[in-house]
Amino acid sequence: MQVGIAYYNQSDTFISQMIECLKGEFEELEREGLEITVMMRDAAESQRVQDDQVKELIGAGCDVLCVNLVDRADPSEIIDFAREYNVPIIFFNREPVAEDLMQWDKLYYVGADAKQSGIMQGELAAGAIQASRHIDHNKDGKIQYVVLEGEAGHQDSIIRTESAVNTLKEKGIHLEKLSCGIANWNRAQAQNRMMQMIGQHQNQIELVLANNDDMALGALDAYKKLNVTESALPVFFGIDGTDVGLEAVADGRLSATVYNDKEGQSAAIARLAAALMTGKGIHMIQFENKKYIYLPYKKVTDVNVHVYYKKEEEEQKKE
Ligand code: GAL
Ligand code: CA
Repeated sequence: MQVGIAYYNQSDTFISQMIECLKGEFEELEREGLEITVMMRDAAESQRVQDDQVKELIGAGCDVLCVNLVDRADPSEIIDFAREYNVPIIFFNREPVAEDLMQWDKLYYVGADAKQSGIMQGELAAGAIQASRHIDHNKDGKIQYVVLEGEAGHQDSIIRTESAVNTLKEKGIHLEKLSCGIANWNRAQAQNRMMQMIGQHQNQIELVLANNDDMALGALDAYKKLNVTESALPVFFGIDGTDVGLEAVADGRLSATVYNDKEGQSAAIARLAAALMTGKGIHMIQFENKKYIYLPYKKVTDVNVHVYYKKEEEEQKKE
């Protein structure tokens, strides 16, 4: 049996870790006795390239495809081709719109609920603000904040921001938004954006909400570059729980993060792929609306971060 994995960009920190995990899950299936070959393709952010890669993978005889779309609004070429050759697709992480997923009954999606991650980030930030008088540097009773957003049009950008901010408000935190910048999940871009925002607002920024860990770390990089003293730093919140993110939570550079369960998502994808290829066990899988599987997010602070570190270590031992 052959599995094709196509992903939008290898240099995305979370995606590269997720792909490693997914590979590990298929290797695990092999150890359990399934004969599986995995082929992987990086689209380097071009949907045209990915369309061709998918055709190539199907041409090479893949029985099922796992696709992390470049443009989540533009899967039609891929869907048409897969349908023509009757190859099921499990989309992951970048969620196609519902109408596209409805086009054929062999299309699935595995991911996580963006709203949940935003709510958790908001709750974590609210908790920190309520626990420490120092976050409100200028003591005006309001928290001056900025947001670093992921790609425009990505389900995890707009929704995470909205639900984090709404949750903070619901928790009774008075907020003042100073600025907002798109940094496309990318650490270097976030550093640049943050430099601009610091330039505009000097030492007024008290809270940085980032749609992922890499951008929270990029924001931190900006402050480090400017040599801002510890006591003048805002607090930083991320999402993902990547290796570097967890490390930063453990040593207190990030206040908290929200774990994007790449292990759970990878296991669900592999199990579904195996069921689709063998024709066995599909009825054991629980779907939402017949084709969706969402894995829950988890809050991570310095109190429980070691649990997630351990998880990483165990995964590594398995390999
Ligand atoms: C998000 C993740 C980001 C980025 C993005 C790519 O779920 O939080 O860090 O990897 O997916 O689609
Ligand atoms: Ca304030």
